[in-house]
Amino acid sequence: RGGWGHGRSSLTFTPVPPNNDDKLTVPAGYESAVVVAWGDPVLPGAPEFDFDNQTAEAQAKQFGYNCDYVTFFPMGANRGLLWVNHEYTDEALMFRGYTDGTAATEEQIKIGLAAHGGSVVEIERVGRSGQWKLVTKGRRRYNRRITATTEMRFSGPAAGSDLLKTPADPTGRKVFGMLNNCAGGTTPWGTVLTAEENFNQYFVGGNGVPEAQKPALTRYGISTTTAIPSGSRRFDRVDERFDLAKHHNEVNRFGWIVEIDPFDPDSTPIKRTALGRFAHEAATTTLARDGRLVAYMGDDSRFEYIYKYVSKNRYIPGHDRNNRTLLDEGTLYVAKFTGDSPASEIDGSGKLPSDGAFDGTGQWIKLVSGDRSFVEGMTAAEVLVYTRLAADKVGATKMDRPEDVERNPVNGSVYVALTNNSNRTAAQVDEANPRPSNRHGHILEITEDRNDAGALTFKWALPLVCGDPNDPSTYFAGFDKSKVSPISCPDNVAFDAEGNLWISTDGNALGANDGLFAMPLKGKERGYVRQFLSVPVGAETCGPLISPDQRSVFVAVQHPGEKDGASPENPASHWPDGGDSQPRPGVAVTWHSKGKKIGA
Ligand code: FEO
Ligand code: CA
Ligand code: CA
Ligand code: CA
Repeated sequence: RGGWGHGRSSLTFTPVPPNNDDKLTVPAGYESAVVVAWGDPVLPGAPEFDFDNQTAEAQAKQFGYNCDYVTFFPMGANRGLLWVNHEYTDEALMFRGYTDGTAATEEQIKIGLAAHGGSVVEIERVGRSGQWKLVTKGRRRYNRRITATTEMRFSGPAAGSDLLKTPADPTGRKVFGMLNNCAGGTTPWGTVLTAEENFNQYFVGGNGVPEAQKPALTRYGISTTTAIPSGSRRFDRVDERFDLAKHHNEVNRFGWIVEIDPFDPDSTPIKRTALGRFAHEAATTTLARDGRLVAYMGDDSRFEYIYKYVSKNRYIPGHDRNNRTLLDEGTLYVAKFTGDSPASEIDGSGKLPSDGAFDGTGQWIKLVSGDRSFVEGMTAAEVLVYTRLAADKVGATKMDRPEDVERNPVNGSVYVALTNNSNRTAAQVDEANPRPSNRHGHILEITEDRNDAGALTFKWALPLVCGDPNDPSTYFAGFDKSKVSPISCPDNVAFDAEGNLWISTDGNALGANDGLFAMPLKGKERGYVRQFLSVPVGAETCGPLISPDQRSVFVAVQHPGEKDGASPENPASHWPDGGDSQPRPGVAVTWHSKGKKIGA
């Protein structure tokens, strides 16, 4: 390990110290600016944002709330399409005097529905710099809003199955909206894959479903004992399908990977059932050595699993008709991790085992392939709709909240952010999840056998065990811990062209604001974590996205000002507008003022 390359990385920026400042802080020599934020007009006829007079009609044409995944489709060197997920809404920060969904006005509930989903916006370079801004003049034919009510369709083996049928959709093929879209990925044919994560929070009436359905609801985090779970946004008050007592299967129609074509604003988004249903964090595609499409995916909840999908047929560059079937026909696998050190050496202290590494081997266990189930007692449709239950049966490894998964374009290994898991007990540690009460998370490196994404066996290691470097349970790949930045709760990961790992954090348990960090994976500096930027008070850092020319890094600043007790009367952040303004989630770009590569 670390055998590819021996020298120093090209990362030379001065790290940003941990801080609690209500701003986006970047290293000396860098500049940053907001690209687009909540309420900015996206579609023709969208009014300017007016916090105190917001309407659902306006919101459906404006940039949505809490932005998470960010990706970019270049259209030449100076223009492109930005895709951004709108994961969820913070009604207590969006509306004055808001208490809960039961007391909310119907208009507020409809604003919430319209503020979910995603946006496609056209952006352009500012001059010759690394700054980008929203195109605000002329025809923007690709601009689009997807919301919690946009018409979508199901495809793949579970489309049309009884488990997806409702009184409103007896075909089980047509669905409205996507919910809680967290991170995502892109396909080689230029579409977005956006991942429905914590969809469980949007439904009421779980106590009113047939008894036989209740175990599955429970396994997916939906209350079966309470009519109205606390904190419910009460979408059911404006759209009955969110009441499971009336529409038992509506909840089965969320929790999917959704494919959206940003270059066809009239296209119907597709929920791809072959990729399974869970709290999808992201879907990262790559190609197997033989050309089959592979998608890596995490299920972000405590003690959940890491999955991989491998298409039946090969990707053929330019052959759209072939390629657009690849996410419908294939095999879904779940990961099992086996440590190579004796269990007695994984004692929960975080101390490395005597072989010097948390590492081992693993295998991808087959769950379902088309209509064929490999899980005893479950049909293929059941495996796809109740994927967690299927993975429980085959001995997969329960992980510390698998968030983003990305493949390194330089070394071919796959990196997973395991964000934290405060519930893991000392009796439950294993070599891949070695710390009890894991508050700070770790990074998992998977190297597929023959470096082939289509392989069914792999090696793995933990190059980074996060936290305060003074905490003996942390590990920075053996690098001198006196030099590294503290890092906690890795969430999204990305790579620059040199193969350095960029990590954004969510929920920094060390007390400072979240941020973006860079860590070389090769040579002398493997493990040398440095903080590149920090986000404003209460925010998590999403994205991140490094532009193909390496001159810009985009981050989504999600939920600025989200703090206990914060409200429009008492905002915890004024980002990005400053003064006494209300906080607005948004996407920011950072660039070097002399045009150097990001990280220089
Ligand atoms: Fe929405 Fe797993 O973070
Ligand atoms: Ca070991
Ligand atoms: Ca996330
Ligand atoms: Ca997170």
